[in-house]
Amino acid sequence: MLRNISPATTTAWKNLEAHYKQLQPQHLRDLFANDPQRFQKLSLQFEDFLFDLSKNRITEETLNLLVNLAEEMGVPQAIESMFTGEKINVTENRAVLHTALRNFSDPELILDGENILTEVNAVLEQMRSFCDGIHNGSITSYTGKAFKHIVNIGIGGSHLGPQMVCEALKSYQKPGLEVHFISNVDGTDAAEILEKLDAETTLFIIASKTFTTKETITNALTARNWFLETAKDEKHISKHFVALSTNTTEVEKFGIAPENIFRFWDWVGGRFSLWSAIGLSIACTLGYNRFEELLRGAEAMDKHFRKTPLHQNVPVLMALLSIWYTNFFNCQTHAILPYDQYMRLLPEFLQQLLMESNGKSTDRNGQPVTYQTQPVIWGAAGTNSQHSFFQLIHQGTILIPCDFIAAAVSNNPIGEHQALLMSNYFAQTEALMKGKNTEEVRQELEQKNLPASELENLLPHKLFEGNKPTTSIMMRQLTPYTLGSLLAMYEHKTFVQGVIWNIYSFDQWGVELGKQLATSIEKELLTDKQQPHDASTTNLIQYYKENQK
Ligand code: F6P
Repeated sequence: MLRNISPATTTAWKNLEAHYKQLQPQHLRDLFANDPQRFQKLSLQFEDFLFDLSKNRITEETLNLLVNLAEEMGVPQAIESMFTGEKINVTENRAVLHTALRNFSDPELILDGENILTEVNAVLEQMRSFCDGIHNGSITSYTGKAFKHIVNIGIGGSHLGPQMVCEALKSYQKPGLEVHFISNVDGTDAAEILEKLDAETTLFIIASKTFTTKETITNALTARNWFLETAKDEKHISKHFVALSTNTTEVEKFGIAPENIFRFWDWVGGRFSLWSAIGLSIACTLGYNRFEELLRGAEAMDKHFRKTPLHQNVPVLMALLSIWYTNFFNCQTHAILPYDQYMRLLPEFLQQLLMESNGKSTDRNGQPVTYQTQPVIWGAAGTNSQHSFFQLIHQGTILIPCDFIAAAVSNNPIGEHQALLMSNYFAQTEALMKGKNTEEVRQELEQKNLPASELENLLPHKLFEGNKPTTSIMMRQLTPYTLGSLLAMYEHKTFVQGVIWNIYSFDQWGVELGKQLATSIEKELLTDKQQPHDASTTNLIQYYKENQK
């Protein structure tokens, strides 16, 4: 069972408040200078990964106090509850078992009297045989041609994960197949993608957990019409459209044959679903074996998360750092900075994972929380981001904890690019930590022989406060396996944060109101009907309608 108390009432929280007052004024420079063992004490290794927490505004004591908080909030019990299939998604009365999708170790996992691993393995087998068929030419288009294009149509969790993984693992892609993604209901998205394709060699994967998501169904119908313009006969649809869903009834209503459905289950949350049938576009693009490597990498992190004491537990410590900055330093954002062009979609993926999971203000008792929950997640790939928003991270007025993520070995080793990329990676975290003080800036300016008044004027603008917290996450190389581990780490971090904030991380009621209103406004836009709205909305709709004439 999840413990159901406010974290702010725990002893650990009170101790952390006192500790914050004492640590807050201290500069990371001094913390490093005063403790030669700081890196050894505050860094962790997991398989091929190095997690360096030492450039965070913490000491060993901070971690001890944060671990006490995790214990008081029942994190170890919560972890067990999740892995064993307790219905911890209380508001939807569901278990949370994305870890079962990558469980290659246990013979069984019983949920409601069924061994769910049997079903998981059956779908994985179905995916394997489908992918193999696409690659060996036994599954072909309606004219007997090999497929050249795969189009995943989905949104949110049915889009962001597959797209990010396909992009991240591009260098592992099977030759001869191109993957595309249509997600936005803006017709431009479908138009721009379909324009490039040939209906005869295109396979559509309609990815939707619920199969009721308006955007996805609209895009799927557009794709169907586009396909029929060439194929003419509806009987060819079965060769070109497959569905990934928990809702087989709706899929069949849409016209996709039962044998073309890849199932998953309501105990897989949308934003945790790339490991399920939702990963079919990944499996087709990389080949099934690569997809399995991704799952195995995630499984390795699952085992670490479940079995490792909190002090050495990577996802737990990552979550605790986030609590430390959010609830004690009052940070409102957190940046994700992959120094790897292939990982450039990671920030977007993590936005949904963390913000849809933990962007909540009601606790598990139905009461408003009295503390801050999920900060805004944002970011972009380095080094590009250094030339856009890094100015603010270095010299702005708000404190932004950052995750710097990189692989030591490049998947595209060209000349000295990797050394240059990584020199920036190391330089940024060092600069953010150290800063540049008055003495250093003065010395630098004096060497330029500036007139004294100019020097004095320029000096304050060139100061870097430093003391900006960063976590460096390095892996040997970006592979399906390491990516799997990294993503599972962020999933578990998300969960632990939710446990500590005493909120439900696995529902998303906050997306419902907009959906409801859009459905009724849609009718208004397509007919002469008018509904009462506030003055702003009424006038905006009127402007829209006038411009349609
Ligand atoms: O609107 C939010 C959401 O429900 C996400 O949680 C989900 O990932 C996305 O929509 C897509 O849902 P579906 O896979 O059911 O189409």
